[in-house]
Amino acid sequence: MQLTTEQLKDQINEYKKKLSVTVVAHFYQRDEVFEMGDITGDSLELAMKTKADTADYVVFCGVGFMGQSVKVLSPHKRVVMPKLACCAMATMIDGTQFDASVKALNEAGIPNENILPITYINSNAEVKAKVGQMGGMVCTSSNAKKIITTALEEGKKILFVPDRCLGQNIANQMGLKSCVLGDGTNVADADIICFNGFCSVHQLFTVDDINFYRKKFPGILIAVHPECDPAICSASDFVGSTSQLIKYITELPEDQKVAVGTEFNLVNRLRSKNTYVLSSTKPECPTMNETTLQDVYDVLKSIDEGEPLNEIKVDAETQKWANIALERMLAL
Ligand code: 13P
Ligand code: SF4
Repeated sequence: MQLTTEQLKDQINEYKKKLSVTVVAHFYQRDEVFEMGDITGDSLELAMKTKADTADYVVFCGVGFMGQSVKVLSPHKRVVMPKLACCAMATMIDGTQFDASVKALNEAGIPNENILPITYINSNAEVKAKVGQMGGMVCTSSNAKKIITTALEEGKKILFVPDRCLGQNIANQMGLKSCVLGDGTNVADADIICFNGFCSVHQLFTVDDINFYRKKFPGILIAVHPECDPAICSASDFVGSTSQLIKYITELPEDQKVAVGTEFNLVNRLRSKNTYVLSSTKPECPTMNETTLQDVYDVLKSIDEGEPLNEIKVDAETQKWANIALERMLAL
């Protein structure tokens, strides 16, 4: 028999009382899944708070690289995901493509000892491990500027993977030169060399959307996530990670209109009469939306029955180096 939404919520709460589990949910999850979260936040907050949590099982409602990061940071924990959903950006680079990018820099006359790789947390553990082995580290959208500032102190070229937009936006904010691998620029001229990955959801926002809102509501503010194209970020009033966007929007005066360029579930949750979605196309992340309440219930039931579904495993060598790259970030 199919359980109703309310029955599913009740059952999930019963399992949460009975089992040593912590349900973790990213801000982009469906509302009904997000409500079940004991720990909620953006990717950096989830990595930090979950690391400090003591339950035996982490039930991670988000996308694959996030669950993997928890496992890498706390290998003794059992991490399960209600849905093994894969962030499209994270799938754009694997270990082989990372090696090919390093080789392209070598061929342009930049030896390994002059390259400092930084990977956005939206990447798989294999890529994080490669970055860790080369002395590099992970960043998220909330700490990317700080991480890059620290990295530049080493006087090396930064190879930034996989999100070209985040890399370019940080370079623009800091007055640095950036390029995208393969765009024809001589990489030796750039401070930050970006891999050509992107988030298809954040590519939906256009300068025309911004112009439309500015014309319709003079005085409106535009706030966007740094995964948006550099042209969108430079035409906006505020650029910030998920948590930074929430803080910015919730602290605005009540009558201040704002159009927001990031994932729909988050914007919709924040939506008051003066908050608008900066696109006529609904900017939903398909993979973040894959996880349903039924999946959360099923995975909790499987833990109770002693046969956990969708458990995240990372081999010891990958765990060791990916952990080094993540811990370098957390130490900052
Ligand atoms: P945050 O780091 O802001 O949580 O972003 C993660 C993400 O996938 C954005 O698309
Ligand atoms: Fe990945 Fe984009 Fe979805 Fe974020 S919004 S999880 S970057 S596909």
